[in-house]
Amino acid sequence: MSTISVRWPDGRVTTETTGSDWLLSANQAGVSIPTGCLGGSCGACEIEVNGTVVRACISTVPASKSGQLTVEFATDPHW
Ligand code: FES
Repeated sequence: MSTISVRWPDGRVTTETTGSDWLLSANQAGVSIPTGCLGGSCGACEIEVNGTVVRACISTVPASKSGQLTVEFATDPHW
């Protein structure tokens, strides 16, 4: 297990553990990721992690060579 610096869409930076669930990590960071099915099929939870779209409900915090991840919401925040 190692930790990684995560920059959230609101600009805050927290330290997360690689391999943790994105939704749990976001929740602990006070960031709301919208969800729907929680099973990987609806896409409501999509976020961009260092520019790559992932579905947060079925993904975990990855390791990164740079030691830093930047998270953006993949969809327009109309929720
Ligand atoms: S909540 Fe439906 S794909 Fe993640």
